[in-house]
Amino acid sequence: MDLETIKNRETKYYARTFKRLPVAIARGEGMYLYGISGEKYLDMFAGIAVDCLGHAHPKMVETIKKQAATLMHTSNWLYTMPQIQLAQTLTEISGMNKAFITNDGTEAVEAAFKLARKATGKKEVIAMENAFHGRTMGSLSLTYGEKYKKPFEPLIPGTKSIPYADADALRDAITSDTAAVIVEPIQGEAGVIIPPVGYLKEVREITEEKGVLLILDEVQTGFARTGKMFAFQHEDIKPDMLCLAKGLGGGFPIGAIAFSCEDFEPGQHGGTFVGNPLACSVANTVVETIIKEKLADNAEKMGAYLMKNLRDRGYNVRGRGLMIGIDVENGEETALSLIKKGVLVIYSKNTVRVLPPLIIEKKHADEFLASFDSLKIRK
Ligand SMILES: Cc1ncc(COP(=O)(O)O)c(C=O)c1O
Repeated sequence: MDLETIKNRETKYYARTFKRLPVAIARGEGMYLYGISGEKYLDMFAGIAVDCLGHAHPKMVETIKKQAATLMHTSNWLYTMPQIQLAQTLTEISGMNKAFITNDGTEAVEAAFKLARKATGKKEVIAMENAFHGRTMGSLSLTYGEKYKKPFEPLIPGTKSIPYADADALRDAITSDTAAVIVEPIQGEAGVIIPPVGYLKEVREITEEKGVLLILDEVQTGFARTGKMFAFQHEDIKPDMLCLAKGLGGGFPIGAIAFSCEDFEPGQHGGTFVGNPLACSVANTVVETIIKEKLADNAEKMGAYLMKNLRDRGYNVRGRGLMIGIDVENGEETALSLIKKGVLVIYSKNTVRVLPPLIIEKKHADEFLASFDSLKIRK
């Protein structure tokens, strides 16, 4: 089947939810994806910061085969070991007390939203301008922007958005009914917006002083993406709740919250599929591999290499680890031009977003730099 046929079929049969790049992928291996006609692409966005071990990683494939042949689903009426193991691992690596497993990022934010209200008995959750937290009703209420929200109003009452990276705005916004503040350590979907050093620390101090829970949405920044296992570890703080997903499953759908605040009571939250043995086994393997193969260090090193080389070429770049934004005249046009050079990236307005698998090596970075440079785009 060719791309035009696929596009036509999508138009006919699939909901009009996605603006896609004009590429259809058949398979992947390591840092590369292969199109339906065998075209080879260097994957520089990893399924939006998800495929942290690249494609078809042998350890993940082995875990999936083994666990699928052993046990795939039981529901939460029964105990299963991979789920409890993953909860233990998540608490150990995050320093939180407990974890709850979800199916993806928006469900992690939903769980955090509910738990914040339950734990504090208060209603209000403060979010940030330009934040992205997901598209279900609770997380959408915390996401910023008319284009996402307007057609679906009324959303959940008790939410408001304040300027990002502005500690004074946060101090002013907290009321006696504020349950929590939710913050992305780096705003990903907004175009890789990095707050000044010390901002998260100040947010932690204000929330502690005012008795408000701090929820960090590390759905995109988590699991070594920024050069540490979690982005909050760059600053000497600990949140009360952590929303996780994307890199956790390395391509298998799973999310989680880790938390140190008061817990749910049985029946208050849950889900048929949440924490199923297959997803949890894969996540256990992914986390183990990130740690064993020191992929946080690789993210730090390769991120610095990419950013230095881009800056040396005169580009305006911001980033942390392998979460990088490059300013361009037109993000979409640049991404489309890069496809012709065999490189896949995503974009937000006039930012090209570079989020490669954490296994990236210098030769891949050089391949990307050569392709990017050959576009001769306006800087
Ligand atoms: C920071 C952040 N939170 C939440 C989400 C929602 O995650 P999901 O798409 O898995 O529902 C995203 C997705 O891009 C995200 O970047």
